[in-house]
Parts: sequence; structure tokens; C-alpha cells
Amino acid sequence: MWKGRFQKQTADLVQQYGESISYDWRLYPHDIAGSIAHARAQKVAGLLTADEFTQIESGLREIEQEIADGKFEFSIELEDIHMNIESALTKKIGAVGGKLHTARSRNDQVATDTRLYCRTEIDTITELLADFQAALLNRAEKYADAVMPGYTHLQRGQPVTAGHHLLAYVEMLERDRQRLAGCRHRLNISPLGSGALAGSTINLDRAAIAAELGFDAPSTNSMDAIADRDYIAEILFALSLCGAHLSRFSEDLILWCSTEFGFATLSDAHTTGSSLMPQKKNPDVCELTRGKSGRLFGNLISMLTSLKGLPLTYNRDLQEDKEPLFDSIDTIKLALKVNTEMTSDLEINRDACLAAASDPLLLATDLADYLVLKGIPFRDAHELVGLAVAKSNETKTPLDQLDLSIVSEHFGPDASKVFNLDRALAARTNPGAPSIENVRNEIKRWKKS
Ligand code: ARG
Repeated sequence: MWKGRFQKQTADLVQQYGESISYDWRLYPHDIAGSIAHARAQKVAGLLTADEFTQIESGLREIEQEIADGKFEFSIELEDIHMNIESALTKKIGAVGGKLHTARSRNDQVATDTRLYCRTEIDTITELLADFQAALLNRAEKYADAVMPGYTHLQRGQPVTAGHHLLAYVEMLERDRQRLAGCRHRLNISPLGSGALAGSTINLDRAAIAAELGFDAPSTNSMDAIADRDYIAEILFALSLCGAHLSRFSEDLILWCSTEFGFATLSDAHTTGSSLMPQKKNPDVCELTRGKSGRLFGNLISMLTSLKGLPLTYNRDLQEDKEPLFDSIDTIKLALKVNTEMTSDLEINRDACLAAASDPLLLATDLADYLVLKGIPFRDAHELVGLAVAKSNETKTPLDQLDLSIVSEHFGPDASKVFNLDRALAARTNPGAPSIENVRNEIKRWKKS
């Protein structure tokens, strides 16, 4: 494509080093859509006859079909998807194919293709997130009233329900969706017409091209449009955080499925055995998800590192944007699908959860609240209950069986009423708190949204 200035062929090693066709071929539908919009603008500007435009358009559509059918021969000598398609077009329709690249560079072309690709993938991932939320909601509904301990520092804290715990993940995934919607909004501008970096002396109708490709507007600075990969970094961050959410969910499930906790059971279809220990049923999907989050973070760091030292505008380093992007997108899609499936079959073991939640120490804070309602300042109440807990430990008497009046005269006979899980949960009615009624209302709200 640049033979005019060169006397020697590109070295084989350089071709091998610089090719991107082995992975950027997946941009082909977007590359073709961009080329057709660009060619149409050329026709309107009088640079192509109606007949030439038709030849270009149908040639490109044929190529698209050949690629979709796996019949297209990609060549690494042609480096990337843009040159592979353009060269195939010229082979197909002759010299007219050479007109397509007027007022265009691979720099604005690749920026356009990547934005279109990201937009499509964001839409898919947003749907997959909604599917995962639906699976969590379904389980939250089934276990809305399954009482379990809530933890801080992985030490038992206060009672919650499994439904409330699962809904926490629905919230996280909602923020993931919102973040992706923000990325989508910012990326939806058309770089086409920015050329190599400084536009072109040939003016095509950039607004019409943008509209045809579903962009909100053409970009407003040609140098920024060529150099900008913010949208990739943003997506990689959004997917990293989503990966962190999935990883925390995985960790919860790994703990819950251990014999020590025994709170949950995963289906056989979503666990694996051991080649040596016959009794094992391992939560590998959760571990893989936890592990793959590292990959998502790595891809973000790799993109940021590629960007940080680059002078404006295009530098070949930017070709390194694609593999991390593709990898994160593929990784999160599969992670979301498998987690959705696995969650749909998740069983919560109500008895084990209830037994753990029946530890009277989970209601120590409620006991302090009881004193507060009698007019004792919270700090003093906290200390008195702390003394009661120490006494319970010392005398090996469960807190709910201890004679609390030996600790303080403020504990009346009605103090024992505190040790009732149903009552404790039912009292947690403030917005966001885990009373079963609140949890059910939240499920209703999510189902409507
Ligand atoms: N394959 C290249 C990339 O992905 C396309 C742009 C090439 N531009 C250039 N000036 N060499 O970045």
C-alpha cells in the first residue's frame, strides 16, 4: 500500500512483528460499515459516480459475507483488517477500489472501527449483566427470608437474610451497567474525516457519515480523534470493576460452599471433582472467576501504560490497544454467562444459615440498643454489653442465658426479649436495612426496573 517510496520489501520478521490481522479481523463488520458510509459521502461529494459507489458497496458486502462464511483468505502481508479488505475490494472490482481511501487514513478508520465495536459489545455486556441480575433476583426471592449471619472482618456481625446479601450484588451490577452506559455515551462520536491527523483538503459530509453509523456527532478535534483511546481505558476499567464484583461474589460462594460454612450448594454441573480425592466437589467456576479478574486488571494497566508516553497523534504503540480490549470483552462475557447459569441453580441451605445466625452474640448490638431506648448513652450501653459478653465467655454461658442483672441493674427482665431473631430482623425497617419486608419490597422494585 506504500510501495511508491520503498525499494525493499518489508522484512518477514517485521511483518510478523507488526501484523494485527490475526486478531483485528473481528473488526470487519464495522470496517465495512465505515467504508460504505465513507463511500456514500464520496458519492454525494461527486468523487464517485453512482455506479462506482454501487460497485464499492456490493464488493464490500460480498467480502463481508465471505469473511462471515469463513471463506476469506486473510494475509499477514496486508498487516491488518483495513488493508486486507481494501486489497480484496480492488481485486474484486478493479481500479475503482483504489478510490475508497480518498480523504481517509487507517488512523481515522481504526478509531472508527474500534468505537463501533466497543458500542456493540457494550450493548451485549449490558444485556448479560441484566441476565445475571435476574438470576440473582430469582435466588434472592427464593431466599428472601433465609436468615444468615452478616459478616465484617469475616467475623459474625449481625443477622441478615440470604436475599439481602444477594441483592447487594444486584446493586453492584447496576453500577456496572451505568458505568458502561457512560462509556457508551462518551465514545459515540465519529472520528471519520480526521484523516491521518489533520483532516483532509477534500471535504466530505462528516455529519452524514456520523449519522449513517449511528454516532451522535462527528469529533471536533482531528488530533484528539486520532490519538484518543480514553474510551478503551474506560471500558477496561468498567470491566475490571465488574470483574472485582464477580470475584467478591465468587469468594462469598467459595466460603459458603465449604464444609466449615455449609451455607450453600452449587449444582454438579457447575462444580468439578478431583482426579485423586473421590469425595471432592470443588467450586472451580468461582475460583476461575476470581482468577480471571486479575487478567481484567492487567489489561487495564497494559492500556494505560501504552498510552502514557505517547506524543500526539497516532503512534504504532496504539495497535497494542486491541488484544487487551478483546481479551477483557471475551473474558467478561463468558464470566457473566457462566455465573448467571451457576447462580440460577444455587441452593442456600436454610438450616445451616439459621443455625449460624442463632448465635446470640449476633444480637449484642441489639442488646445495646435496648439499653439506649432506656436512656443510657450508646457508649455506656456498648461497654455494659461488652462486660456481659466477657462474662458469657468467662462462664461459658451463652449470652442469652446469662443473668444480665449481675452486670448492670439497667438490664430488666424484658432484656431477654432481645434474643429473638425474627424480632431482630423485623425491627430493621429503615430503608436499606434487611427486614424481610424490606427485602421483598426491594425485589419488587428491581423486578419493575
Ligand atoms: N493496525 C493499525 C492499528 O491497529 C491501524 C492503523 C495503522 N496506522 C498507521 N499509521 N500505521 O493501530
